[in-house]
Amino acid sequence: MSDMKMLNPEDQVQEHSKLKIKLYEKVLEGHLPVLLLSKSIRNVIVCEPFAGPGRYDDGTEGSPVVARNTIEKVKNHPTVKKIEGQKQVKLYLNEGVKKFAEKLSAEINDSESVKIVNNKADDFLRKCLQHREFISAYNQKFFFIDPFGYSESSVADYSILSDIFHLPQSESMFFIPVSHIQRFISGESKQGEPARKFLEWRGIRQSYKSPREISNEIVESFRKDGFFCYDFELSAGSNKYYIYYIGQHMYGADKFIAAKDKVIISEREEKDKYSLFLEMEKEIYYDWMIQEFIKILTPFIIEFRTNKEIYDFAIRNGFSSKVANEALKMCKNDITVDLLIDKAKKHCFYVNWCNFKNSQPAKIRIKWKGKNE
Ligand SMILES: C[S@@+](CC[C@H](N)C(=O)[O-])C[C@H]1O[C@@H](n2cnc3c(N)ncnc32)[C@H](O)[C@@H]1O
Repeated sequence: MSDMKMLNPEDQVQEHSKLKIKLYEKVLEGHLPVLLLSKSIRNVIVCEPFAGPGRYDDGTEGSPVVARNTIEKVKNHPTVKKIEGQKQVKLYLNEGVKKFAEKLSAEINDSESVKIVNNKADDFLRKCLQHREFISAYNQKFFFIDPFGYSESSVADYSILSDIFHLPQSESMFFIPVSHIQRFISGESKQGEPARKFLEWRGIRQSYKSPREISNEIVESFRKDGFFCYDFELSAGSNKYYIYYIGQHMYGADKFIAAKDKVIISEREEKDKYSLFLEMEKEIYYDWMIQEFIKILTPFIIEFRTNKEIYDFAIRNGFSSKVANEALKMCKNDITVDLLIDKAKKHCFYVNWCNFKNSQPAKIRIKWKGKNE
C-alpha cells in the first residue's frame, strides 16, 4: 500500500484507547464462549480492518494482540475445549500502512487461524463482502472498526460499512471521534470532509449540537436501520469520543451492555485501588442502574408482561438482563407474579436469553401492584 500517506503513530497509549481496548476484550470474553457453544453457529470470525501495529511504542498491547490472547483464553476454557476441532475462531487483521503491517506480522504470526493483510481498508472490506466465510449465515462475524486516531480520513466509502453491518450474523464495535465531528458542525474545523461524509451517511443534520446530542443521533440513526445500537463514552481531555455497538442480535446486545457495566466498574476499581469502600462503590453503581431500570419498568408493567417481554424491554432500553433480574428481585413485594407453566418456580424471573429464544414458552407474567398503580 505504497500510496497511503504515512501516518503519525501514537507512541504512548492514551487513556481513552486503553478503555476502548478493555471494552473490546470484555465483549469478546463474554460473547465468544456462548457463540462457540451455540448449535446454530459454525465458525466465528473476528475482524479488524484498521488493526494498527499490534503494540504501542510504550509496550502496551494493541487491540489485535488483545483479541488474539482473548480468543486463546476462551478456546482453552474446559467447556469450550470439549467442542474444539469442530469450530474455529479466525482472526482477520488488516493494516494499511506497510510499516505497521510488518510490525503486526512480527507481533502475531500469520497462521491458519490468523490472517494478516496489508491493504486499504475499503479494498479489504470489499473482498470480505465477497468471501464465502463472511457471507455464510452460519458464521458469526465480529468487526472491530477503529479507523480514527492517526488519520482523520480513513473511511473513504461508508456504504461499504453499511454492507458489513448488514452481513448475516454480523456485529461490530465502531469508534467515532464525535468531538471532531462537532468541531466541523460548529465551523471550527478546516478539514471537515470526513465529518461531512459521516453525517451525510447517517442522515444527521449539520446544525450545532453537543457531542452527547450528536452521539444520541448516531445511535438513533442505527436503530432506525433496525440495529441494536448503544454507545460508550470515552473522554480524552475536553474531547468526547464514542465507541458504538451495532448488531442484529439481542443476545450480542445483552453481552455488550454487560461488558460496558464491567468496564465502568473496573475503571472505578482502578481509580479507588486503595479505597476501603470499593465493594460499596460497586454496589452503588449497580444500585443506581437498578433504580434507573425500575423507573422505566413500573409504567411498563402496569399491565401484565411476560418474562420474554421484559427481557426484550430491558435490552432495547440499554439495561443488561442481570440488572433487570436484580430489579425484579428488589420489587418482589410490589409485583404480582403469575406462573404460566407448571414447572415455573415462584421466585425465579427468567429474564435471560435462554428463556427469550423463540423455542421457549413464556414462563411467568408480571404486573405492578405497587404504589404507582
Ligand atoms: C486507531 S489505529 C488502530 C489501533 C488499534 N485498534 C489498537 O487499538 O491497537 C488506526 C489504524 O488504521 C490504519 N489506517 C488508517 N486509515 C486506513 C485505511 N484507509 N486503510 C487501512 N488502514 C488504515 C492506521 O495506519 C492505523 O494503524
